[in-house]
Amino acid sequence: MQDAILVTGGAGFIGSNFVLGWIGTPGSSVINLDLLTYAGNPANLSSLEGDARYLLTRGDICDAELVGSLLRKHQPRAIVHFAAESHVDRSIASPEAFIRTNVQGTFVLLEQAKIYWSGLGEADRRAFRFLHVSTDEVYGSLGEHDAAFSETTAYAPNSPYAASKAASDHLARAYHHTWGLPVLTTNCSNNYGPFQFPEKLIPLMILNALEGRPLPVYGDGRNVRDWLFVEDHCAAIRAVLRDGRIGETYNIGGNSERANIEVVTMICDLLDEMRPREAAVPRRNLITFVKDRPGHDRRYAIDARKLSRELGWQPAEQFASGLRKTVGWYLDHFSWVESVRTGAYLEWIKQNYTKRVAL
Ligand code: NAD
Ligand code: DAU
Repeated sequence: MQDAILVTGGAGFIGSNFVLGWIGTPGSSVINLDLLTYAGNPANLSSLEGDARYLLTRGDICDAELVGSLLRKHQPRAIVHFAAESHVDRSIASPEAFIRTNVQGTFVLLEQAKIYWSGLGEADRRAFRFLHVSTDEVYGSLGEHDAAFSETTAYAPNSPYAASKAASDHLARAYHHTWGLPVLTTNCSNNYGPFQFPEKLIPLMILNALEGRPLPVYGDGRNVRDWLFVEDHCAAIRAVLRDGRIGETYNIGGNSERANIEVVTMICDLLDEMRPREAAVPRRNLITFVKDRPGHDRRYAIDARKLSRELGWQPAEQFASGLRKTVGWYLDHFSWVESVRTGAYLEWIKQNYTKRVAL
């Protein structure tokens, strides 16, 4: 394959958006290493079926032999590492898989990347990049008036998910510092958009509201997240891969802080407009405040000025227009929704929400 990159977790939400965007670049090709867990869906990339520039390998990033052989065979010029267990509530229910994939898996990838990169010729060695995709959750929680997270904010992860991502960031940093592996790390805020698995706030609320089910808002609904449209995240990753300074970290955010209750209300109003209910009862009536997430981070906010200053990146999408597009996407892709709501999904919904009594 020509000018290949290795993407891990490319069948997940952000990974599949990234692969679809990347393949648009002439002459590029992608090897997608994905275990296809409950969160991975090859159908997200069905438009690439039969395309010689795309190869899906079902496998585990913890499998050193597999990772090493993929690198030797396809000689990628970069690794873009998305693969992870990504849902905070699942990390509270069952943390072990998060340690395995996010910590051990990232270690295996870094180690195999180091071996591969060390054996490259001078020009290829200089061009190679390992881009580690991480999260703003590693910085912990902000108070209402605190300054947004910058790249120098101290790490203070609060959930098992955040702690596992923080550990992986530290490993990525250490591989650069110790051996000079050309690592770049990005820490991004909450994404939304097409192909997001409906365990996360926005797609869960869209589908529950559409189907007239209760909308389970944790705690008082005043927790704040900084929302970024997924295509803007992918554009930022491309910019960092192309021009980012080796060994640096870059924060990525949408400048769109919203309280959860505000997001849920916007979804209700959009659906009332785009799919009016027969009885004309506003969907806001479905909002139900439920038992909070243990250790729930109050507020995230990202200072993305470094990325803007050094690489000229800015988010292109406004939250209101991005949310409208996202609601429209779920309405237009109901067969995709049906295909991901498997038995395992329904089991998780039961496990997470049955005990969350209304407040
Ligand atoms: P996701 O859960 O939708 O997808 C994860 C993908 O990784 C799936 O395709 C899954 O099959 C694959 N995977 C899981 N374990 C694997 C393993 N052991 N080996 C190979 N593949 C495996 O996740 P996402 O929301 O697309 O997030 C992607 C990355 O971006 C993660 O590293 C996450 O921490 C980070 N991130 C996510 C957000 C967000 O809002 N979703 C924000 C910032 C950073
Ligand atoms: O900040 C980046 C992170 O954003 C990523 O690293 C994670 O992978 C991603 O899942 C996301 O984490 P959050 O915990 O912020 O996302 P989630 O969609 O699970 O929840 C968003 C907010 O909504 C959070 O405050 C919890 C709340 N919530 C969530 C669900 C699923 C509810 O009130 N009700 C719900 O049913």
